[in-house]
Amino acid sequence: QTIYLKDYAPTPYRIVSVELDFRILEENTRVRAQLAIEPRDTTAPGTSLVLDGDGLSLSSIAIDGAPLALASYAADDNGLTIVEPPFRRFVLETEVFLKPESNTKLMGLYRSSGTWCTQCEPEGFRRITYYLDRPDVLAPFTVRMTAPQALAPVLLSNGNPIDRGDAGDGMHYAVWQDPFPKPAYLFALVAGDLGSITDSFTTVSGRNVDLAIYCTHGKEAECHHAMDSLKRSMAWDERRFGREYDLDVFNVVAVSDFNFGAMENKGLNIFNDKLVFAQPETATDANYHSIERVIAHEYFHNWTGNRITCRDWFQLCLKEGLTVYRDQEFSSDEHSRPVQRIHDVQNLRTSQFPEDGGPLAHPPRPDHYREINNFYTTTVYEKGAEVVRMLATLLGEAGFRKGMDLYFERHDGEATTIEAFIKVFEDASGRDLSQFITWYLQAGTPQVTVSDSYDGASQTYTLTLTQTVEPTPGEPDKKPLLIPVRFGLIGPNGSPMSWNGVSGGTVEGDLILLDKPSVTLTFSGVANKPVPSLFRAFSAPVKVSSNLDQADLLFLARHDSDPFNRWDALQTVSTQLIAEAARGRRWSDDDAHALRQALVDTLANPDLDAAFKAQAIAIPGTGMVSRHIGKDVDPDAVSAARKDLVTTLVGPIADQLAERYAALVSDAPYSPDAAQAGERALRNGLLQLLVSGAGRGDLAQKQYETAGNMTDRYAAMAIAAQSWTDEAPALLGDFRTRFAGDPLVFDKWLTASAQAPDDGVIERMRAILAAPDFPKTNPNRLRSLLGSFVMSGSTQFTRLDGAGFRFVTEAVAEIDKVNPQVASRILTGMRILPMLEPRRREAGRVALETLKSQHTLSRNVGEILDRILAG
Ligand code: ARG
Ligand code: ZN
Repeated sequence: QTIYLKDYAPTPYRIVSVELDFRILEENTRVRAQLAIEPRDTTAPGTSLVLDGDGLSLSSIAIDGAPLALASYAADDNGLTIVEPPFRRFVLETEVFLKPESNTKLMGLYRSSGTWCTQCEPEGFRRITYYLDRPDVLAPFTVRMTAPQALAPVLLSNGNPIDRGDAGDGMHYAVWQDPFPKPAYLFALVAGDLGSITDSFTTVSGRNVDLAIYCTHGKEAECHHAMDSLKRSMAWDERRFGREYDLDVFNVVAVSDFNFGAMENKGLNIFNDKLVFAQPETATDANYHSIERVIAHEYFHNWTGNRITCRDWFQLCLKEGLTVYRDQEFSSDEHSRPVQRIHDVQNLRTSQFPEDGGPLAHPPRPDHYREINNFYTTTVYEKGAEVVRMLATLLGEAGFRKGMDLYFERHDGEATTIEAFIKVFEDASGRDLSQFITWYLQAGTPQVTVSDSYDGASQTYTLTLTQTVEPTPGEPDKKPLLIPVRFGLIGPNGSPMSWNGVSGGTVEGDLILLDKPSVTLTFSGVANKPVPSLFRAFSAPVKVSSNLDQADLLFLARHDSDPFNRWDALQTVSTQLIAEAARGRRWSDDDAHALRQALVDTLANPDLDAAFKAQAIAIPGTGMVSRHIGKDVDPDAVSAARKDLVTTLVGPIADQLAERYAALVSDAPYSPDAAQAGERALRNGLLQLLVSGAGRGDLAQKQYETAGNMTDRYAAMAIAAQSWTDEAPALLGDFRTRFAGDPLVFDKWLTASAQAPDDGVIERMRAILAAPDFPKTNPNRLRSLLGSFVMSGSTQFTRLDGAGFRFVTEAVAEIDKVNPQVASRILTGMRILPMLEPRRREAGRVALETLKSQHTLSRNVGEILDRILAG
């Protein structure tokens, strides 16, 4: 059941080349595979060849053209064994028939709105043909596909197109050849009646690449933002990492049924259509931003993932963490670096930290799993990116680039490991990274405790940093990590302070290396008592608690030269006030006044841009504060305290905020650019405060009615829904009818509906799911309703009477029968249980036990459920 990293061994046979022949018909698809196979040097004669297969039924089999005798092979639901294959190179030929129409798991070959398409990562290829379906088996592929001309005028696969033509009887064919050896998870095929937009890109060495984005007819005009993002990604990877594209064509296809965001298949990226389509009336600024980011992400995989891939799935973050780092850097270079950093850290804190501190915690490189699909997690992706970022911080930009250059030079064409990745940076920099690699191997978010003191007489400043990591499932003892702490000292007048010397630990420029359980640094020649600014730009994915009081934090919020820490100081102050109040210790008037004044001054500061201000005035959500409290949490108390704080802060300045809000209206034509998006974010941030803190539901209603774009209209509706103002039901109702027929806008309505805090929300969601026309097989619809319910810190999900937990586990049982990946992803929301107060915890446990005892569960859901119950 459980697969262990320590059991890794190469396959006894290699696949030298692959020829696939697909005959696609309405009724079924015939797949013929010709695999050239040979034993490895180390393989003993007579060793069986064991190929993976998932739910396939074999209709013919031959070796070198000769049909196989029944006794020489065995096929079952998990694969195909050839008992004594020839001890030399041979060609294995198999034929199977598939039913893409009834493939609701959306892995392998399936149909989405009539289009045939594939998803193979990580183990979908074995649902298409018998194969060594693992990432360390690399081969060049040639794919021939034949399909009805009328149903599928577009025929695409990986690599370059080399032939196409008429096949008679209303059929036509195309042949694609991918010269770059690749693992099967990067295979893709698309056949359908699709529209497209085209463009081209000239690489730095002068090669022309034909670009196309394919979509449902009629959606072409909504693909231009994606195309523009693609061209900028290609140029950026050349500039920043020296990486050039390597095929003659690059195709992107948007499909409406897709298990996650997108997939980097070689030369043929397949996308969830919500990450392609954008027009101002139906897509928000956030949608535009995600499209750009994910287009970049999948494109960047061409080098970090495809040219250099993973030896096994334990190494997933070798490609994912690194590629997320690269897409974050792309977004930072293309827009505002500090705003991007705040955005990414907020995402890390709201999704990865809870994973890392709960029953589903695992290292970025896990060492065992039951179901690999359960490990496409925020820890592998986002914490993985933070680990790469720390490498860049430690080595400096030039040192990091040198290591990356060596990585591409040394490992191009290989399937490799985290160890090999770390080694290139050791070799390029001469630095010992043996302690650093622990970040990949150990789960849990380190907690860093800071205390400082100043001695005026000797002008010495002492700073003590201590690290601990709480035990996580299966890892009782933690090793100390190498934590890079970017820092500065700030003097009483707000400007940077210098020192003469430092002892007690390693300081390199503005970096403290916290490499032991505890480090005490003594700075000499410090003229005044400084306020320390630590973890600038969030230089390590840790939680910090310090002896800084509210006055120190608000001092940082005003004076720190690091924008991230200015933002973070404000967040910390609000979080602490809400958390304390939820535990019965309400803030003093002075504390509230000081925070209010800091917010007002931030808003008035002409040196800060609107996007930053929007982030700075946002009050942390209930989920964020609950996690800060960490155990025995009563989410209703947190939510009430939060509401109280917002009201306290906004009350005396409501008119001033409303004026500011009104002044930010713009009648410029919509553009998703950073400046305009920043102004909209600030305006909507003000609206949020005014609605939840001053009862100004009327403003939300007015904005909803007059909005000229989806960003403003959606924000107005969602803000009203989250505060459940009198206007909310009517706005939701209008939104639903106004955009009826647009599935991606329907998703927005589902999300806003699921986040309503009133007691009626669960009944409304049950009715939505039970409606005969609700598309129960579409992952986007299910995630928009249920994913946002479990992940957004809704107090209805964690209801004391357990109705939220029952609703979710009952829905998961149903979804699991159709699509286990979507079901298990929704169930991960239950990881919140251990931090709740006992009665809610118990209600959740009962719901999980019921799910377990009353249903036959998929491996996906079974694994998540058991891990949550065990945690
Ligand atoms: N490799 C894809 C990406 O990150 C995602 C594949 C997700 N697969 C999964 N089984 N969850 O771009
Ligand atoms: Zn990826």
